[in-house]
Amino acid sequence: MIRLDGKQTSATLKKEIAEEVEKMVANGQKRPHLAAILVGHDGASETYVGSKVKSCEQVGFTSTLLRYENTVSEEELLQKIEEINLNDDIDGLIVQLPLPAHISEEKVTEKIDPRKDVDGFHPQNMGRLALGSPCFVSATPHGIMELIARYNIETSGKKCVVIGRSNIVGRPMSILMSQKGIDTTVTLCHSRTQNLKEICLEADIIIAALGKAEFLKGDMVKEGATVIDVGITRVPSDKTKSGWKLLGDVDFAEVAPKCSHITPVPGGVGPMTIASLLFNTLKAAKKEVYSK
Ligand code: GUN
Repeated sequence: MIRLDGKQTSATLKKEIAEEVEKMVANGQKRPHLAAILVGHDGASETYVGSKVKSCEQVGFTSTLLRYENTVSEEELLQKIEEINLNDDIDGLIVQLPLPAHISEEKVTEKIDPRKDVDGFHPQNMGRLALGSPCFVSATPHGIMELIARYNIETSGKKCVVIGRSNIVGRPMSILMSQKGIDTTVTLCHSRTQNLKEICLEADIIIAALGKAEFLKGDMVKEGATVIDVGITRVPSDKTKSGWKLLGDVDFAEVAPKCSHITPVPGGVGPMTIASLLFNTLKAAKKEVYSK
């Protein structure tokens, strides 16, 4: 069984990005610049955005964090996005989700200029993804594809089961895994799927992205399968200083012995997500997706 080491792979990816940034600077170009908007004080969102800003520093990007109270109006937020859209100094913009109930995530996502949408959530980028056209691929799916590529996991003609149909992970994953050059046969499962266990038992690759701690058990996985765990559920723990620990969607102790490859939690998909956001921001700065 080989552990897909997201920590190490993301460090390699970040090093490649940092080298590219230094080349750009040596050529007289400006450093890539990511802006992040954080509304409210949700603990998980604070942690994620904090890591994103820190990672920008690690690779030599400029970053701007804009914080708003929960009471900010939708209009004020949309105006700020418009301002950033027009600011040539900023290459990429993310608005951390979830947002307070009085703010439409749809309106906010659609307001971001697709050329700066380094989260890849804008309908234009999602549509391009579905069409196989150049686009920003959202960070978690992109990170998973990098892990699969960098560990040379065979995909052509294999059966892939994706569990979970979220817009951020499951749905784009199902598109990517069936695209030309990857060529798996994809089954996208969700909360209404019948015979999930039987479907999983056929899979060569399982991507668990449903958000239920330790959902995938050993008797749902065939010998030699590759298992990618996207889950990060916080559960109380008296063994950690913080008082909680992270659990994946996979029962690692049961599933790992049956696998050819598996991602741990933490240290698997999570670190790849942030590295992929940096990758997208670099692409935005270099205008590689949209030429103008
Ligand atoms: N909330 C959870 N994951 C993400 C993400 O990848 N991007 C943003 N903007 N918000 C999130």
